[in-house]
Amino acid sequence: MSALLSMSGVTAGYAADIDILRNLSLSIEPARITGLIGLNGAGKSTLIKAICGFLRPGTGSIHYDGADITGIAPHTLIDRGIWYIPQESSLFPYMSVADNLRLPLERLARTTAGVEIDARFEEMLRHFPAIRAKLHDQAGDLSGGQQKMVEFAKAYLVRPRLCLIDEPSIGLAPKIALEVYQWIELFSGQGMAILLVDHNVRRVVQMSEYIYVMSLGEITAEGKRADFEGDLHEQVRSWLGVNF
Ligand SMILES: Nc1ncnc2c1ncn2[C@@H]1O[C@H](COP(=O)(O)OP(=O)(O)OP(=O)(O)O)[C@@H](O)[C@H]1O
Ligand SMILES: [Mg+2]
Repeated sequence: MSALLSMSGVTAGYAADIDILRNLSLSIEPARITGLIGLNGAGKSTLIKAICGFLRPGTGSIHYDGADITGIAPHTLIDRGIWYIPQESSLFPYMSVADNLRLPLERLARTTAGVEIDARFEEMLRHFPAIRAKLHDQAGDLSGGQQKMVEFAKAYLVRPRLCLIDEPSIGLAPKIALEVYQWIELFSGQGMAILLVDHNVRRVVQMSEYIYVMSLGEITAEGKRADFEGDLHEQVRSWLGVNF
């Protein structure tokens, strides 16, 4: 199968003389969950930011759907069908939940034919019914778990081909985290390609078809789910090169 997105030899960082990503290559297959695990500071979020164009790679290239998107302007990702759910909230806190949800959808409707805003909105509410009662609340007044739900609902409305998801369960109660994983399964079941970064290594392995392990800005191991199952703890420990 040919990759939907491929990074090849990417070097990138926040300062000119310090590379965080070092000659990094990986691919994301269409309609599959690809997992990315690694210790704090390994560069997982930096990798996503490089894909989204927040950081311009010094060397290497990023291709998506046959096009070179290296250093793309982040606001144009939506038009290509790429969506990013960041670790921190991306909601406008002083706007209503409804307006937060409609903003990207309205942009998409301006640039893409056949986007029925109202129909999509109703369909989204079927999958995220708890949002209906919150539509007129200010987004910033919602709890962390509720804000995460709105983030996922927003992504669902946009229906990207590729969704980059950074630490979706961090700081959430276990019950809410389970819901988050169910939404990711929902997205995947509808044919979305997903890059999943999560500190719950066991969960990432369970959900992903292919997994990359990252350490100090480099991919240090990769493989299919079956390669990671079995004595997961022992394997991941050795791949990460640490004791935990
Ligand atoms: N805005 C920034 N400016 C300068 N350095 C940064 C910035 N953001 C991250 N870094 C550095 O880049 C390195 C990789 O950070 P990154 O956030 O990508 O790691 P991560 O794997 O996502 O970690 P975590 O699991 O804690 O989220 C770290 O050394 C971090 O200190
Ligand atoms: Mg991170």
